[in-house]
Amino acid sequence: MARNLTKSNAHFRRALKRLPLGVASNFRYWGDARTIYVKHGRGARLTDLDDNVYVDYRMGYGPGILGYADPRVDEAARAGMEIGGVFALSTERELAVAERIAKMVPAAELVRYSNSGTEAVMAGLRLARAFTGRDDYVILEGGYHGLFDAAMWFTPMDKWSQVGDPEVRPYSEGVPLSTRGFAHFVQANDANQLEDVFKRYADRIACLLIEPIMGNCLGIAAEPGYLRAARALCDRYGVVLLIDEVKTGFRVARGGVQELYGVHADLCTFAKAMGNGYPISVLAGREKIMRKLGHGVAHGGTYTAHSVSLAAAERTLQILDETDALETIADYGTKLRAGMSEILGARGIAHSFVGHPSMSGLYFAQDPPRNYRDWKGSDYSFYDAMAKVLHDEGVLCEPDSREPWFVCASHDAACLADTLRGFETAVDATLAATDAARKVRA
Ligand SMILES: Cc1ncc(COP(=O)(O)O)c(C=O)c1O
Repeated sequence: MARNLTKSNAHFRRALKRLPLGVASNFRYWGDARTIYVKHGRGARLTDLDDNVYVDYRMGYGPGILGYADPRVDEAARAGMEIGGVFALSTERELAVAERIAKMVPAAELVRYSNSGTEAVMAGLRLARAFTGRDDYVILEGGYHGLFDAAMWFTPMDKWSQVGDPEVRPYSEGVPLSTRGFAHFVQANDANQLEDVFKRYADRIACLLIEPIMGNCLGIAAEPGYLRAARALCDRYGVVLLIDEVKTGFRVARGGVQELYGVHADLCTFAKAMGNGYPISVLAGREKIMRKLGHGVAHGGTYTAHSVSLAAAERTLQILDETDALETIADYGTKLRAGMSEILGARGIAHSFVGHPSMSGLYFAQDPPRNYRDWKGSDYSFYDAMAKVLHDEGVLCEPDSREPWFVCASHDAACLADTLRGFETAVDATLAATDAARKVRA
């Protein structure tokens, strides 16, 4: 390995004694020898315990929209600290932030806060169920909506034989099998299939839970016609359209995917980018549905609307709304795609990009995927091998090819140059390793 990870490796061995897998989240364990620990993050770069510096394209899975330790947001957060934390009472700023969100996202007529994306989506599903009096929901193959039982049914496509439908399995042990029957899976971009499911289970489906640019599945994007059709079908069958914007919100446009596609949700969820890393999330939506909160539907939480997170969100949203930060991000993402494309194209490697320039999926096949099943037909093992070399070269992407590359407003020309240099090295090293492996097999 080209990197020195002596300190991270030693810390991992110590941490393992007290922390499962040596980390605070399963996704942060990258193997005994490759799990790294962060010393600090500034802008678009991270420094690990061994002082390796990386240009980061994970950005905490999306929250870092302006960059780590943004001084404007941190100053606001410190002022928020002066308010005093949480009181089991409300503060004035809750309204100010809700007004900003409503301005940016027209469907957000009313707003409720939580701390994480999981909490917001969980509350949204409960509210949709209460509003419709139905229990089932429809989700897309490849969709991820958090770590609560109802969202933890998935189609493990890596195990799919490419014949028939993929199996539906729980994402974890401990998910009650009795919850399986509520979830109905459809493929992205197939409105006929969606209508068939709506028709067949007409009196059972409460909501369509959809992330139109799939932030955990390459950034596979709904075709505009599909999302419009989904909206119309929800109206026809009395199904709540719950658009999960935990990753896309305040990132792909000021008004999220809803602005990008011109489609309005009945309910929508936000988190990640809205606080530039401070823990806060939102469930928002149409007044007639949201007014059920407190009138039959329970919602709350001790740490909800913490004064630090709320102040950070107020400042972050103001910056995203009133400056050209999102244009800067999209411009960088477009340049990043072009630079990678030039390197891959010069070597005759089939590839395409999916999603939005601010959260790009790099896909190893000529045509971008329309749904999760297409991923199976791509050369994702090339990505998996290349990602390890990228880390050694100081470019931090997710080791799993399905996670898009996240761009923040602090990615600059120096980041781009460092990234493309590392990318070229990683592509060549991966090609050489693949060639060598082929020769050994022959
Ligand atoms: C679309 C989507 N919904 C929900 C979640 C869950 O958010 P959290 O990890 O904050 O609980 C995620 C997390 O990545 C997500 O991408």
